[in-house]
Amino acid sequence: MAPLYEGKAKRLYTTDDPNVLRMEYKDEATAFNAEKKAVFEDKGRLNKAITLLMYQMLEKKGTLTHLVADVDEVNLLVKKVDILLVEVIVRNQAAGNFSKRMGVEEGTKFKTPIVEFSYKSDELGDPLINDDYAREMGLATPEECAFLKEQALIINGVMIDFFKECGLGLVDFKIEFGRLAEDPSKIVLADEISPDTCRLWDLKTGEKMDKDRFREDLGGVMEAYAEVLERVQSATSES
Ligand code: TMP
Ligand code: ASP
Repeated sequence: MAPLYEGKAKRLYTTDDPNVLRMEYKDEATAFNAEKKAVFEDKGRLNKAITLLMYQMLEKKGTLTHLVADVDEVNLLVKKVDILLVEVIVRNQAAGNFSKRMGVEEGTKFKTPIVEFSYKSDELGDPLINDDYAREMGLATPEECAFLKEQALIINGVMIDFFKECGLGLVDFKIEFGRLAEDPSKIVLADEISPDTCRLWDLKTGEKMDKDRFREDLGGVMEAYAEVLERVQSATSES
C-alpha cells in the first residue's frame, strides 16, 4: 500500500478508520535540512518505542497527544491531525543553532527556558519565525501561538523531571502539534519525541546521547539511542 504521506523519518498510511492513521518509523536519518543522510538499522524501532513511552508518560501527566495504540516494532496508530506548520523548540541550554546564531558556548544553562518557533518548510530549511510571522502567514492565530508556547513549557517541565530520573539532561527539543481531523478546535501533541528530536546529555559523563552523534560524526549513534530506550523503559516501569 502506498503511503498517504512520506516524510524524512516517518511514513503515514490510512486505516479502516478515516480518523486514524498508521505511523511507520523509518531507519533513515537526515541532518542539516537533509544535507547529510544515512540509514541506521533499528532506528525506526528505537524511536517508535521511545516515542510511545514518552507519549504515555505525558498523557498520564495530562498532555493530550495523537497516540491511539501501539501496533508493532515500527508502527503506531495515531489520530489523524492536520499538522500545524509551526515547529516549537524549547531550549534549556545553549547548543546547535542557538550557539551558532548567538555565539554562546554550547552547554551554557539558561536562567529561564527559551521557546522558539520555526516554519515547517523543507524547501526553506525551517526558518526561525515569531508569532507575527505565524499570524500573517496564516500558520497559527496569536491565541494558538500562546497555547503552543504554554503547552511547550509544561511539556518541558515534565520531560526535564522525567529525563533526570533517566540520568539525562534535557538540553533542548522540537515538538509539533496538530489539529484533530475529527475536531479541528482541538490541538494535540503529534509527531515524535525521540533522540532525533531532543538533545539529551548523560548527567554523569556529559556524553551526547542523541542525533548530535550523527550530526557531529561521533559514532555509536544507535548504541546511544538503545541506551536512551533502556533508561526510559526502566523509568516508566518504576512509576
Ligand atoms: P537546533 O539547535 O538545530 O535548532 O535544534 C534544536 C532542537 O530541535 C534539537 O533538539 C534538535 C531538534 N530539531 C529537530 O527535531 N528537527 C529539526 O529540523 C531541527 C532543526 C531541530
Ligand atoms: N531534521 C532536520 C533534517 O532532517 C535537521 C536536523 O535535525 O538537524 O535535516
